[in-house]
Amino acid sequence: MEMMETFFATCPRGLEDVLAQEFQHVGGKNIRVTPGGVECQGLFSLCYRLNRESRIASRILWRVGSGSYRHEEDLYRLALELPWSLWFSVNCRIKVRVVAQQSPLTSLAFATLRVKDAICDRFVRDTKKRPVVDKRHPDIQVVVFVDEGQVVWYLDTTGSPLFKRGWRQAAGEAPLRENLAAGILRLAGWTSEQVLLDPMCGSGTFLIEAALMAKGIPPGDRREFAFCHLKNFDQSAWDRVRREGHEANPMHHTLQIFGNDQDAQAVSMVRTNLQSLQLADVHVTQGDVLEMVPPAVSGMIITNPPYGVRMGDHTLLEQWYPKFGNVLKQRFAGWTVYVLTADFRFPKLIRLAPSRKIPLFNGALESRLYEFQMVAGGNRKTARIAKRQGTG
Ligand SMILES: C[S@@+](CC[C@H](N)C(=O)[O-])C[C@H]1O[C@@H](n2cnc3c(N)ncnc32)[C@H](O)[C@@H]1O
Repeated sequence: MEMMETFFATCPRGLEDVLAQEFQHVGGKNIRVTPGGVECQGLFSLCYRLNRESRIASRILWRVGSGSYRHEEDLYRLALELPWSLWFSVNCRIKVRVVAQQSPLTSLAFATLRVKDAICDRFVRDTKKRPVVDKRHPDIQVVVFVDEGQVVWYLDTTGSPLFKRGWRQAAGEAPLRENLAAGILRLAGWTSEQVLLDPMCGSGTFLIEAALMAKGIPPGDRREFAFCHLKNFDQSAWDRVRREGHEANPMHHTLQIFGNDQDAQAVSMVRTNLQSLQLADVHVTQGDVLEMVPPAVSGMIITNPPYGVRMGDHTLLEQWYPKFGNVLKQRFAGWTVYVLTADFRFPKLIRLAPSRKIPLFNGALESRLYEFQMVAGGNRKTARIAKRQGTG
C-alpha cells in the first residue's frame, strides 16, 4: 500500500488562504494553513500535481522527518540518523538551507555546515562515497526548518522556484512574481468571463497569468522539477499527471484581457511574452493611462502602478496619483479596481476609500492590495471617507 506523505508549500505572505483553496481543488488532504505556507497530505504523486498545477505556491517541500533539538550538534546527530541514500543518489549535487524562526541557534551558517557534514558522513557510511555540494545548481536541496525547539527535515521537490514558469522571454524593471500575480487574481475573484485591464502592465504578468488561468494551461507545463532526481520518481505516474492535466481545458468563450503601458519597450516585451505562449487573444496598447479610453463599460482593473521604492520619485508620484484617481472616477464608473502598492498613502492621494485592504508581501516589500468600487456619482462621498480615514 502506498503511504500518505506530508508536503509543505511556501508562498508569498498573504496568499496562504487562496493557496489552500488551490490544494483542496487538486485533492490535498488534511490541509493546514500557517503563516507563509500551507501543509497538506496525499500520495507521493500529489506533489507532481502541486508542482505542475499550483499557480500560487513558491515551492513544494516533502517532509522526511522531525525531532527536538537545542544546539547545532543535535542537528548533526539527528541528520546522521536519517537514511538520505534511500531518498537520493550520492551522485546528486546537494545544497542545505536552514530556515529559522525564533530559534536559539547562534549561527545559521554553522548549523548549515553541520547538517551538510552529517548528510555527507551518512552517505560515506552507507555508500562509501561523499555527495558533492553545489550551492548554485543543486539537484537536491535539503531544507531544514528550525523553531524554538523543533526541527523539521524537508526535501525540496521543486528546484528553481515555481514562479519561474519558463515562459518569460523578457522582463521589465520591476516585474511581479508570477505566483503573486496569480494569487492577486484569485483574491480579486476574477473569472474568465470578466473584462480584465491592466493599464500599467509592464511585462504583462497579470495579463499572462489571467490568460493561462482562463485557458486551463498548467503553469508548470514548460519546466522541469527537482522530484525527477528523487529515487522514488515514478515516470509513469508523472506521465499520467501530465496527460490528465492536458485533458482539462475549461474555456469556451472569447477572452477579454487588455493591457497598456506608456513605455514602448514594455509593450514590445509583453508582445514577445504573449507570442512565446501563443496567447493571441490578449490585447496590448501603448499610451498614457491618463489618456485611456476604457475598453468596456465595466470590468476589473488589476494593476501595480510605479511607486517610490523601486521606480519613479515620491514627489512626482504625489502629483500623479490624484490625476490617476480622477481618471478612475470620471471614466471607469462601473469598474472594480485593484491596486497593489507599497505606498500606503495611495488611497489618500487618489482620494478614494478602499472597500478592501489586503496586506501582501511583494518579495520583501510590505504592500497592500486595495479594492475600489467605482460607483457613478459616488466620488465625493468616497473622497470624504478617504480624507477621514487618513492613509488607509
Ligand atoms: C511597477 S511597474 C508594473 C510591473 C508589471 N506589473 C509587471 O509585472 O511587469 C509599473 C509600470 O507602469 C508603467 N507606467 C508608469 N506611468 C504610466 C502611465 N502614466 N501610463 C501608463 N503606464 C505607466 C511603467 O512603464 C511600468 O511598466
